[in-house]
Amino acid sequence: MNAIELAGITKDFRSGAGAARIRALDGISLGIEAGEVTALLGPNGSGKSTLLKIILGLLAPTAGDCRVFGVPSGCVEARRAVGYLPETPDFYPHLTGFETVRFYARMGGLTRAGLPERVWAAIAKVGLVAEAHRRIGSYSQGMRQRIGLAQALVTDPWLLILDEPTSGIDPAGAAEIGALIRRLKAEGRTVLLSSHQLEQVEEVCDRAVMLDHGRQVAAGRIDELARRAGGIMLGIESLPENAWGELRAWLEARGGRLHDTRMNRTGLRRVFLETVQRGRSGEICPP
Ligand SMILES: Nc1ncnc2c1ncn2[C@@H]1O[C@H](COP(=O)(O)OP(=O)(O)OP(=O)(O)O)[C@@H](O)[C@H]1O
Ligand SMILES: [Mg+2]
Repeated sequence: MNAIELAGITKDFRSGAGAARIRALDGISLGIEAGEVTALLGPNGSGKSTLLKIILGLLAPTAGDCRVFGVPSGCVEARRAVGYLPETPDFYPHLTGFETVRFYARMGGLTRAGLPERVWAAIAKVGLVAEAHRRIGSYSQGMRQRIGLAQALVTDPWLLILDEPTSGIDPAGAAEIGALIRRLKAEGRTVLLSSHQLEQVEEVCDRAVMLDHGRQVAAGRIDELARRAGGIMLGIESLPENAWGELRAWLEARGGRLHDTRMNRTGLRRVFLETVQRGRSGEICPP
């Protein structure tokens, strides 16, 4: 089942009277599988944040249809099912972290009963309990990002839309957020995130959709996308030094070639760079 269905989504912006039209999204049609973690990838300005805002119903598309759990996005039922971390969370600096998450919890329709417990649970999930009574104005960028995640989680939504969830977060913190996203998946939730951290995406996400200049240039399971980049990785636990020559000869006798003997975690990075390049020259890679 798809949590999100997009059909022919196009979005044009005009930045002023008489200004040239910018086509931010150009005919995006795709389904985001429920219960999976999907990454939206693409260079700066490729349309990721615009697409996420259309899914949330915060922006209306110029053309096309968007449904969240079968309901047109923007409807109250669709909004209630979704938690959102914006690209640049804009919080009231004089509120504490706790007050901020409580504010969003009330906005999200939670009643007062059991509210503090739910707010604390969300803050604990992002590891910010010790700082929760400090004002947001005194937070570092990473701490603000974590509070942003806590407010997205506080209503226990079935769909999480996270626009660059680890931007400004240090590597250890990013690994914790990766683990949190995997736990959300284990609970049956759907996560759609945008990111430029390709190695992390490869570890955390099941699927990826790549945009370039507002067009979808690739989509699929990450292991399959990375495999498309070419080559087969063999996991060899141990091999005596003198056997490498034999292995190379064995492969070459069968038309193969041993081209790399290191651990390879760069498959998705390679397909990203190659696909975006292809997208630039006008060739679209089918999903
Ligand atoms: N409100 C707006 N008015 C005019 N143009 C806009 C507006 N919002 C986005 N755009 C344009 O739409 C295009 C896509 O922008 P978007 O923010 O969706 O990109 P992105 O993929 O999220 O980029 P990044 O990786 O930098 O976050 C860009 O050309 C941008 O300048
Ligand atoms: Mg963006």
